This record gives sequence, C-alpha cells and structure tokens, in this order.
Amino acid sequence: MNDGEVYLRKATLSDVNLLFEWVNDKDVRKNAFDTHTITFEEHSSWFNRLLNGRNQAQYILMRGLKPIGQIRLDIDCSDAKIDYSIANDERGYGYGKLIIWLVVKKVREDFPEVNRLIGRIKPSNVASFYCFEKNGFEEKYQQLELNLGTLKASGEMDDIHPKSAGETVRKLIS
Ligand SMILES: CC(C)(COP(=O)(O)OP(=O)(O)OC[C@H]1O[C@@H](n2cnc3c(N)ncnc32)[C@H](O)[C@@H]1OP(=O)(O)O)[C@@H](O)C(=O)NCCC(=O)NCCS
Repeated sequence: MNDGEVYLRKATLSDVNLLFEWVNDKDVRKNAFDTHTITFEEHSSWFNRLLNGRNQAQYILMRGLKPIGQIRLDIDCSDAKIDYSIANDERGYGYGKLIIWLVVKKVREDFPEVNRLIGRIKPSNVASFYCFEKNGFEEKYQQLELNLGTLKASGEMDDIHPKSAGETVRKLIS
C-alpha cells in the first residue's frame, strides 16, 4: 500500500471511538432520519451487535493510514441499505462518490445474494443525491411519513374528513 492509496477495510472493535465521533458530527445528525445525539452507551452496544451479527457490514474508507469515511450495509435478503459519511475536513473532494463505487464492488464480491442497493436520503441532502446518482442509482419511490405523535398532540386530524378530502382532491385534479 502506498501513502495515497484509497481503499475500504472492514471495521474492527478498535474503530468504536472513531465511529462515535463521526456519528455525532453536526451534518451527519442533520441528514439522518433520526436526528437525536447518540450517547456512547447506545453507540457501543449497537457497534458490538453489529460486529457480532451477520446482517451488517461496516467498512472504513482509508487514504494510506488515515481513515476518511465510513460506509455500512444493512442486509435484508437480497436488499442492502447503505449508510455512509465522509469526515468533515475531507468533504468536497470526491470521496463520497468514491466510497459508494467501492462498496458496490465489495457487495458484488462478498455478498452475491444481494441484488439491490438502497440509499435513503433527505431531499435537502443534494451532495448525497449526486453521490448515488453518479454511481448509477435511480430515484424510485418517494417516501411519505406521518409523525403520529406530533399529529395527535396538535389535533390537526380534526379538520380532515372523507367529504372535504374528496373535494380537495377533485379541485386539485380538475
Ligand atoms: C454526503 C457526503 C457523504 C458527500 O461526500 P463528499 O465527499 O463531500 O461528496 P463528493 O465530494 O463526492 O461530491 C459529490 C457531488 O456532490 C456535489 N456536492 C458536494 N457538496 C455539495 C453541497 N454541499 N451542495 C451541493 N452539491 C454538493 C459535488 O460537487 C459532487 O458533484 P459533481 O460530481 O457534479 O462534482 C458528505 O457531505 C457527508 O458525509 N455528509 C454528512 C453525512 C451524510 O449526509 N451522509 C449521507 C446520508 S444519506
């Protein structure tokens, strides 16, 4: 390996602190679907389960001896969901695109049963959208979510009944 070589290696127990630092990075939390700050206890028990389980694979992107990003596969039969991030001071140099390209190669070699890779991103995360798109990913389904906790608390549901909903739809399509 030469100084500038960029490659993926499997994460080990000794990466626990590095991954903890990265998971609580401001933009990583902002772009996550669950934005709460992760405690070290949560993180370390999650990471132990990951290392001992069979359905997840965690990799570290290295440039020479320096770790510069992380990418994880959550495998469910023939699907694998991707979670990834690049260290704050290494963003904007093409590593986001590269890490996805490298993991696609890994999946082909190490997980031949997987035939679909999935990236879930918030619409505001333009950089991540490009990283997937430049690797040939296509936008498939829009996901809509309803937070029942917030809805019940604000009582917004009271305004919606089938008749008015139907009228609204008719107005929208006419
Ligand atoms: C998303 C993330 C991984 C992108 O990594 P990166 O190394 O900065 O991305 P790249 O340098 O490969 O850039 C990818 C593309 O996005 C563009 N881009 C980068 N930052 C951008 C920004 N803030 N706004 C708009 N476009 C941006 C680049 O110009 C590039 O497009 P190009 O190929 O046309 O030049 C990185 O910003 C990150 O770790 N964010 C926090 C965690 C996160 O959002 N993870 C993804 C969750 S789905």
